[in-house]
Amino acid sequence: MPNGTIPVGIAPSSAATWNAEPGDTAPMTDLVDRLRAAGCVFAEEEAALLLESDGDLEELVTRRCAGEPLEHLLGWAEFAGLRVAVAPGVFVPRKRTELMARETVALRPRLLVELCCGAAAVTAAVEAALPEVRTWVADIDRAAVDVARRNVRGRVLISDLDAALPAELRGRVDVIACNAPYVPTDEVAHLPPEARQHEPRRALDGGSDGLDVIRRAAARAGLWLRPGGSLIVETSTAQAPAAAAAFYAAGLRPRIVSDRTGTVVLGLSTAEIAEPPREVARS
Ligand SMILES: C[S@@+](CC[C@H](N)C(=O)[O-])C[C@H]1O[C@@H](n2cnc3c(N)ncnc32)[C@H](O)[C@@H]1O
Repeated sequence: MPNGTIPVGIAPSSAATWNAEPGDTAPMTDLVDRLRAAGCVFAEEEAALLLESDGDLEELVTRRCAGEPLEHLLGWAEFAGLRVAVAPGVFVPRKRTELMARETVALRPRLLVELCCGAAAVTAAVEAALPEVRTWVADIDRAAVDVARRNVRGRVLISDLDAALPAELRGRVDVIACNAPYVPTDEVAHLPPEARQHEPRRALDGGSDGLDVIRRAAARAGLWLRPGGSLIVETSTAQAPAAAAAFYAAGLRPRIVSDRTGTVVLGLSTAEIAEPPREVARS
């Protein structure tokens, strides 16, 4: 398993070791109170995690109370049962994106490309589930690429979408996973401050209807996918039909999959498109 990707196994009992004297719970209580006053909903859990992290505790708590994402302070995010390395300035992998990882694993790719990879959490999860998979990941942002290198075994590129992929991959890729930015430009201002102030705008803003990068990815996918290969992207529920239409226009047979946490659109690369887009609901 690559550096920075270790199984999650948090032992909150370590919180007790921070107390000044055995049985003295006042420092822990103080820490929880400060986090709660700053608006942290899961103050106890966050306090335990900050206590077990390596950094200067007072500095970490001050930064957390000022609104920095917990994951940036810890240096990792939990994703699909893994601890995936993250860093300030890099998009924090979201729980809802585990659906993309599960759907990708279900396709059992032997060759996977992840575009707009960020920390490459999806590829890390697929590599953990499918030890034989060969992977290429790419992002336009240098900070993201540096973190992705810590999370995956495969090749890591800095690239505007597929621009830097080697020609040898053309027509051979089983799955392209691409969790691109998909927030409509006008809605970026309404995102929680943790995202707006601490994640790059380029990781969030997907253009006027949020689908600019997804449309570009759909238009490029046919070049890289083998016949029967799939592109998979994440969208909001409301955006999924428009993304499916873009897939259809790009020659991919679309399928929408939703569960309680998220929505993905899959597009099958095939010469024949016989069916219109359909929706699949997963519990
Ligand atoms: C919403 S974040 C998702 C990151 C990661 N896929 C995940 O699920 O955690 C979108 C990512 O796309 C990258 N990005 C935006 N535009 C891009 C482009 N034209 N080419 C490559 N990467 C891009 C951003 O740098 C950011 O890391």
